[in-house]
Amino acid sequence: MKKVHATATPNIALIKYWGNRNNELRLPAADSLSMTLDRPSLTLSLEESDQFSLTSFLNGEKKDLKPEDQRRFEHMINLSRRYLQNLGYKKPFPRSFSLEIQSAIPPRIGLASSAAVFAAFAKALSTFAEPERALTDAEISVLARFGSGSAARSIFGGFAMMHAGSSDDMASAFASQIANEQHWPLHDIIIAPSHDEKKVGSTEGHALAQTSAHFKERIKQIPRRMKECTDAILKKDFEKLQHMSEEDALDMHHVMETSTPSLQYLTDETHRIIKEIEDLRSTDHLEVLYTVDAGPTVHLICTDAARPTIIDYAKSKQEKGCTVFKTQIGQGAITIHQ
Ligand code: DP6
Repeated sequence: MKKVHATATPNIALIKYWGNRNNELRLPAADSLSMTLDRPSLTLSLEESDQFSLTSFLNGEKKDLKPEDQRRFEHMINLSRRYLQNLGYKKPFPRSFSLEIQSAIPPRIGLASSAAVFAAFAKALSTFAEPERALTDAEISVLARFGSGSAARSIFGGFAMMHAGSSDDMASAFASQIANEQHWPLHDIIIAPSHDEKKVGSTEGHALAQTSAHFKERIKQIPRRMKECTDAILKKDFEKLQHMSEEDALDMHHVMETSTPSLQYLTDETHRIIKEIEDLRSTDHLEVLYTVDAGPTVHLICTDAARPTIIDYAKSKQEKGCTVFKTQIGQGAITIHQ
């Protein structure tokens, strides 16, 4: 039986994806943009099987999975099969699969573990359709999106964007690369104040976005921020990238906090880190920006020149109980055939 392995890593959004126009198909309400990281990574092994099975290990320890975890993978397989049949594939996949995940990414703390999982899954899955025709990366990103919206961006290395599209066609949202990982060697020093898993996951959160009175205004602002951010990346203009991405991150948290029920992902420690970085930046003129996804974890994106100071700062937080991940821009999901 054919067995495939794929590895993938999280990405950190600079313009955030929050809210869908179609939750079932994960068709986003707006474009988003991110940087793919080089670690922590996970490996997913996929084998043809008569019956679906899923086993997952976190740092070598077997995880207890809920029935809905399994359903999410099966849903992705079903949507992917439908999508490929629409593209003209006669028999894209075998009847079912057995999956094993070996991960080093703590889940549900704002570190995009689901982006890495579903990017690796999409990569591995796509190889089963290869005998009829190899999928393009954009098509693989559609498969990844069926599992997790942000996963579409982790298919690509460097900087990637999600094109939201506007129709209800299942293929209308896909990702593409803006610049590869050699273009601008930025770092992401990640400070996780806590490993407590968040109570409301992104999937449930996206479904609440429309309940915020601020959501419509946010959607209006995204095209401008996307343009400015893309421009900043292409010109390696750190200051511009910092302004756009911080504006967007705080704006997303404003939508979250004004949703019903209100979603509060930022903790006192998150606010403390942001304030300390702002202070450090104003005295030392450092090229560092902060951003926060759906969790208390703070991502400090910085240039080579600013990295030593940010590492020293992160060490001081580590001594106070935070977990630190030292990452940099990475290459995106890859498959290993056997
Ligand atoms: C705040 O991609 O995790 O990290 O599609 O339900 O898996 P699902 O949501 P997910 O949402 C990401 C939210 C975010 C912002 C971002 O990564 O763009």
